[in-house]
Amino acid sequence: MKILGIETSCDETCAAVVEDGRRVLSNVVATQVEVHRKYGGVVPEIASRAHLEALVPVVAEAMEQARTGLDAIGAVAAVYRPGLIGSLLLGLAAAKTIAWLRDRPLVGINHVESHIYAACLERAGLPFPCVSLIVSGGHTSLYFSEGPRTHSLLGATTDDAAGEAFDKVAAILGLPYPGGPSIDRAAERGNPAAVRFSRPWLAGDSLDFSFSGLKTAVLYHVRGHGADVKKRETRLSEQETADVAASFQECVVDVLVGKTLKAAEARGVDRIIVGGGVAANRRLRARFQRDAAAAGLELFIPQVRYSTDNAAMVAGLAFHYAREGLFAGLDLEARA
Ligand code: KG4
Ligand code: ZN
Repeated sequence: MKILGIETSCDETCAAVVEDGRRVLSNVVATQVEVHRKYGGVVPEIASRAHLEALVPVVAEAMEQARTGLDAIGAVAAVYRPGLIGSLLLGLAAAKTIAWLRDRPLVGINHVESHIYAACLERAGLPFPCVSLIVSGGHTSLYFSEGPRTHSLLGATTDDAAGEAFDKVAAILGLPYPGGPSIDRAAERGNPAAVRFSRPWLAGDSLDFSFSGLKTAVLYHVRGHGADVKKRETRLSEQETADVAASFQECVVDVLVGKTLKAAEARGVDRIIVGGGVAANRRLRARFQRDAAAAGLELFIPQVRYSTDNAAMVAGLAFHYAREGLFAGLDLEARA
């Protein structure tokens, strides 16, 4: 079964066609990075307007690249939560319209669940049961995953999401928007042992996360660096910036990898999934590859293009809903 998926939860307009939950026939992403750059963050109202402009051409492009007509589509899927409400509404309205016009069933997809599923695209078997870590701009969560649709929460951030911490620290360091990829690049030239930021492990065996203290530690480190501590913008040299970026990144990676491995041990599973935009981070990927292998765990991590927001993960996951007849009505509501 071929499924058309639509994803508009934040600032990327995405459409994709995936066959049988696995074979990606097309995966189109129209990013709004340029539109939001001058504001240093996503402006919800502008994001909605940009989705409105991009949706029809993006869906048309996804159909064309898949060399498929709407008649050959078995179901239409869209993310209906969580995300920016205006953005979600547009993708969902587009999916409903196509479903209604073509008399196709509609599948409503949870964005976080689809990030977990991204690791299953273009792979032969499913990894469940496993432990899943989702690290994105809005989430840092660990789940015990029994199937593509069944996840129980083991731990989550108590303050900033991992991606949010990357973005804010990039801003503190004066690195360009979007922050996550900027830190990734800057860290490449830096020494991860230059600054020893204390690791926020939290109490005992906690599987929760907290990155807001680390963000403040970076801020104090950077401000204290110059002679004038009252001056907001302390100028670091390029090398110092790279060192702080690498040290911050290493701290986050230590905690993410450490807790995920601990969760896998606690749940007695031998497979882990890592997904979400921060899973595109090269240091995080390398450390997971190394440490999972050392712990005897099989790692399922999506290709970079399926780590950040995309609709292939939506259309792929939707297959498992469609197969069970779990369709939504045209009255499905978007939820922020
Ligand atoms: O999953 P995603 O595309 O959107 C949300 O669901 O939030 O994740 C976006 C987040 C942003 O915070 C972005 O800075 C971060 O993922 N990100 C990265 C990298 N690429 C994207 N963080 C660190 N390193 C990267 N290479
Ligand atoms: Zn996302």
